[in-house]
Amino acid sequence: MLAIIGGSGLTQLANLEVTRRQVVRTPYGEPSGALTFGTIRKTEVIFLARHGYGHTIPPHEVNYRANIWALHSQRATDVVSVASVGGIRADLGPGTLIVPDQIIDYTWNRMSTFYSSSDHSVTHIDFTFPYCEQLRQRLLGAAAAAGEEIVSGGTYAATQGPRLETAAEINRLERDGADIVGMTGMPEAALAREIGLCYAAIAVVVNYAAGRGASAGGVKLEDINAVSQQAMARVRSLLETLVMLDGD
Ligand code: HPA
Repeated sequence: MLAIIGGSGLTQLANLEVTRRQVVRTPYGEPSGALTFGTIRKTEVIFLARHGYGHTIPPHEVNYRANIWALHSQRATDVVSVASVGGIRADLGPGTLIVPDQIIDYTWNRMSTFYSSSDHSVTHIDFTFPYCEQLRQRLLGAAAAAGEEIVSGGTYAATQGPRLETAAEINRLERDGADIVGMTGMPEAALAREIGLCYAAIAVVVNYAAGRGASAGGVKLEDINAVSQQAMARVRSLLETLVMLDGD
């Protein structure tokens, strides 16, 4: 079953026919909210708002472990993460949709593994390719079928937040090879890999990163909402196409 984790701007799925909501208890504490079960075009999906349904949980306080564990416990097999990002590369301006293929993790002090020392021997996972390629291809196929332009591949830099970056930090991220920057991509992707979920992301560029393009003089937060609303409408129809193609 497909699960969708919605980020800022996607706390609800308008095209989801809700059948039930379920509070899931986990060994890692509370998920961001009750899981919403419903159907899109008669196919069952699970939805979870990463920042809570009232958008009250900041990126560094999201309980990523509880969220991923809860989805897995309810028999999700695939997870599409929708996440707002800043565009570092000049061609990745506001409104661009990207299916990234790499991650660099700059976050710190987050609970980032299910393998704590008390109950496991030391365990490593392969994370060479952090996203599930099969789900990436399904997303790209859905975009093509929906006539939606989408960029395939790119490196997502996960920063700690909740503040935005300095211009110098963005320059450093670019030198490191990052194309987009967001605050929630990690440890979510690694936890999904640890627990065996096929995980991919749709990154939605809602602003130029600090010091770049229209953000040369600073990021204008007041402009983000309108971009996000428009882009998330496109994401919703892309997800609908994804589910429809899966159902065929
Ligand atoms: N930086 C980090 N996270 C973000 C940004 C950004 O510029 N825009 C949206 N999420």
